[in-house]
Amino acid sequence: MFPSDKPQLDPYPLSPYVAWAGKRNRDPILEVFKERLPKNEGAVLEFASGSGMHINYFAPYFQHLNFQPSDVNEEVFENIQQLTQQTGAKNVQPPIKLDLTQPGTWSVLSEKKFDAIFCINLFQVAPIALADGIMACTESVLNDSGLLFIYGPFKVEGKYTTPSNEEFGETLLSYGVPEWGLKDIADITKAAQKHGLALKDKIDMPSNNFTLIYGWA
Ligand SMILES: C[S@@+](CC[C@H](N)C(=O)[O-])C[C@H]1O[C@@H](n2cnc3c(N)ncnc32)[C@H](O)[C@@H]1O
Repeated sequence: MFPSDKPQLDPYPLSPYVAWAGKRNRDPILEVFKERLPKNEGAVLEFASGSGMHINYFAPYFQHLNFQPSDVNEEVFENIQQLTQQTGAKNVQPPIKLDLTQPGTWSVLSEKKFDAIFCINLFQVAPIALADGIMACTESVLNDSGLLFIYGPFKVEGKYTTPSNEEFGETLLSYGVPEWGLKDIADITKAAQKHGLALKDKIDMPSNNFTLIYGWA
C-alpha cells in the first residue's frame, strides 16, 4: 500500500503519491494528537479524509474518542470503510459526504458537535476560498473548548520558509492548475477570524510542514 520511493505528484486521494505522503506524515501528526486531542470522551471530525488512512491509523490510539471521516468524493468511501474493517476499529463511523464549499451538505451533521476537527494536506491542491468553508463549517460544529487542526505545507507572510518548501510550491505551480500552490497561513487565519476563531498554535513539522491549531477567539 505504501511505496517507499517518492511517486510522481498526484493529488488523487487513492494515488501512490498520497499514500507515500501519508506514510511519512502520520506519525508526526499522531504525536501532536497525543498531546492535544481531548483526554476524555469526545468526538472528532476529519475534513477531506481521502483514502481514510489517517483517521483509521489514529483511531486505535484514542479509544475514548469517536471518529467521523468525511470527504466530498464518495468514490473514496469504500476504501475508508475497508481500512476501518482491517484495523477492526470500533470508534470510526462510516464516512459522510461533506463538501466544504457547499454549506447545504453540512446538514448531514445535523445537531452533532465535535471536540476536535482535523484536515490534512488539502490546501496545496485547493483554492484559498476553501478556507472560508472550513472555518464556517467548524464554527457551526465545534464545541466550546474544541480545536481545529490543519496540517500541510504553507507560506508564512507571503514567503516560502525553506528552499525545499519553495521547490515544492514551484513544482505545484508548474502544473498550471489554478488552485494548486502553497497558501499563506495569514490568509487561512483571516478566514478563521471571520468565524470567531483564532490561530492558537503553529507547530513546525518534519519536511517543512506545519500543524496549525485554531480555537475560539
Ligand atoms: C490530496 S487529498 C488528501 C487526502 C487526505 N487528507 C490525505 O492526507 O491523504 C485531498 C482531499 O480533499 C478532498 N476535497 C477536495 N475538495 C474538497 C471539498 N470542497 N470538500 C471536502 N473535501 C474536499 C478530496 O476529495 C481529497 O480526498
